[in-house]
Amino acid sequence: MNLKVLGACLAALLTFAVTPAHSQDEGQRASTGGAQTLEDILARQKGLEVDESFRRDNLGNPENAQSISDNLGVLGGVSSSDLYRGIRYAETDVKVSNNSHASEILVQDGGMGWLLTRQGGIQAFAGYGIGGIIVALTAFYFLRGRMAIEGGPSGRTIERFKAFERFGHWCLAGSFIMLAITGLLLLFGRSVIIPVFGHEANAAIATFSIWVHNNIAWVFMASLVAIFVMWVAHNIPTKLDLQWFAKGGGIVGNAHPSARKFNGGQKLIFWMTVILGASVSMSGLSLLFPFEFPMFASTFEVINTIIPAMGLQTDLLPHEEMQLAHLWHAIVATTMIIAIVAHIYIGSVGMEGAFDAMGNGQVDLEWARQHHDLWVEEEEAKGAPIQKVGDLR
Ligand code: HEM
Repeated sequence: MNLKVLGACLAALLTFAVTPAHSQDEGQRASTGGAQTLEDILARQKGLEVDESFRRDNLGNPENAQSISDNLGVLGGVSSSDLYRGIRYAETDVKVSNNSHASEILVQDGGMGWLLTRQGGIQAFAGYGIGGIIVALTAFYFLRGRMAIEGGPSGRTIERFKAFERFGHWCLAGSFIMLAITGLLLLFGRSVIIPVFGHEANAAIATFSIWVHNNIAWVFMASLVAIFVMWVAHNIPTKLDLQWFAKGGGIVGNAHPSARKFNGGQKLIFWMTVILGASVSMSGLSLLFPFEFPMFASTFEVINTIIPAMGLQTDLLPHEEMQLAHLWHAIVATTMIIAIVAHIYIGSVGMEGAFDAMGNGQVDLEWARQHHDLWVEEEEAKGAPIQKVGDLR
């Protein structure tokens, strides 16, 4: 008798174990009347792929109720659920009074992916990336020390940047630093500010941050154009830059590779600032004027033409464009912040004599000879005035 019961239990267990996953899904789906199950919702919240065909293709059929709808004069075979599914998958002809394409999208599916990427990958990139570069530079400072002017300052100076160049640089730097701080406050609002300072503090900080961010962005864009116009001619890459990189920029050891006005490393910072600065500005404008400047579908089309294997989606809904612009804006801005932290280090505590170039515009002649020998030769040939340090005071 006991053996029979045991056998029956084993058979039941075996049947359950070998039942294919989809028929279990169908079983669960039947329990919700064909609608989504708790598993579907949890899977979507974890960012997993969910097969949507059970509802994407289940949009109702007016002909099912042909016999009664003729009498009643209604849509009959389409239920409210069918209608909402049609709206969700953009299969319904929605008319809105303001005639905007974006307002015709009443339900859109990309929010969960956007939320998970922003709270997961992007916050990790910003946290570890910016924290990592600060730790690395601090370690570098204690290991290598401040890069000194070999033989000490000469006490004589040469003009490195004119007042309008320094003004352009400080407008760019000041606006960038404010954008970086307010952007990070917005990014980490939910995960750091709310748990530590509470919802009300975060609401006030976020309101202030977005106001500063939206307005200061114009200063950044204008000064980006200005520094591009002022310095592009000095930043065209040449063979000399390759030699500069081959010698490690003189950072390790005491070599001083030759350079004109800007060396290879500075050209890298310049082009990074210009290219990523333009990209962060364009995605920022796209966010500032919602749905007015969609740019991802057309960019993806170009990428697909160059690399067909990429197969990027090009029929993006207006809201998907906004979600992508938001994520891209944060990724590019974070990359820039990481690079600029290193730039600020070299331009201030990292190298003796560097800050003066953007301070009063006069650099020590010996510093200039060690870091930009060919530029000094050019300036001397043009008869650039050399001053004694005391003359400036
Ligand atoms: C407190 C912050 C900053 C300091 C102390 C600083 C310092 C400097 C200095 C000293 C130079 C001239 C280097 C030389 O004489 O050759 C310079 C150049 C430059 N700065 Fe800054 N900077 C700061 C922030 C920024 C920011 C935020 C940006 C861009 C978003 C930026 C972009 C540039 C560019 C493109 C150059 C020319 C290329 C180069 O020298 O690397 N700077 N900076």
